[in-house]
Amino acid sequence: MDVYGLIGNPVGHSLSPPMHEAGYDELGLDARYVAFEPPADEGAAAVEAAETLGVSGLNVTIPFKQDVMEAVEPTPLAERIGAVNTVDFSGDTPTGHNTDAVGAVRALSHHDVALSGTAVVVGAGGAGRAVSFGLADEDLSVRIANRTESKAHALADDVPGATGHGLDELGDLLADADVLVNCTSVGMESDETPVPASALHGDLAVLDAVYTPIETRLLRDAADAGATTVDGAWMLLFQGVEAFELWTGAEAPVAAMNDALRANL
Ligand code: ATR
Repeated sequence: MDVYGLIGNPVGHSLSPPMHEAGYDELGLDARYVAFEPPADEGAAAVEAAETLGVSGLNVTIPFKQDVMEAVEPTPLAERIGAVNTVDFSGDTPTGHNTDAVGAVRALSHHDVALSGTAVVVGAGGAGRAVSFGLADEDLSVRIANRTESKAHALADDVPGATGHGLDELGDLLADADVLVNCTSVGMESDETPVPASALHGDLAVLDAVYTPIETRLLRDAADAGATTVDGAWMLLFQGVEAFELWTGAEAPVAAMNDALRANL
């Protein structure tokens, strides 16, 4: 039996075990997925311990995404992002991937959103950083807007072709944009939105990284404006799908994994 897992602190009510195990069941793979909660300063040690125990792959979440980099060989993309969310133990040394970036891209393309034109990323934290690199690696030019404007400029300096802005510029930034991704925590467990409804329009595709609640105020406003909407569970799903495919080498059963994820939301 292959063992996969997640390290986070807290891991709480993680959606990853049911999502991945639904994938194993669908493909008839003899595998299990377990959530582990190591102490907050033991991320690298947890990766080494997992390798010693013969674990096949690990997902990595808050607060370990940066710290585990010292225990793995990061891919060029993970190196540029500066964070690892997926470790693969199949080679001689553990490889550190970042599937958050590709997860956002695959969530959009699954909804037939063209990956060209201009994308506005709201938020310059860890999620904003991964998503900005993911979109910039496609054919999108990226505009990053953040409450603390200096952090948007700092991130834009790292992301090819990107520009940094304050939230007060969102109206102008969105007027001719094709894609909007919310990477702030605004809307999580609240009915707030980081983007004024008046800035949304029908030519936008809007992806919200927030999935609690699944229907955020931003997505309701976007639907009212006639925009294409993609909820945060799709992003969570596709970062998991990407990890699943890296680990197993099989094409992930996306529908089964999506059903299991949504049944556990
Ligand atoms: P994550 O890893 O999920 O991206 P993070 O690194 O803590 O989390 O980043 C949180 C993001 O949400 C930041 O872009 C933050 O803006 P600041 O850099 O100005 O702090 C943004 N954010 C959090 N609360 C916000 C609020 N009330 N209004 C606007 N942006 C907010």
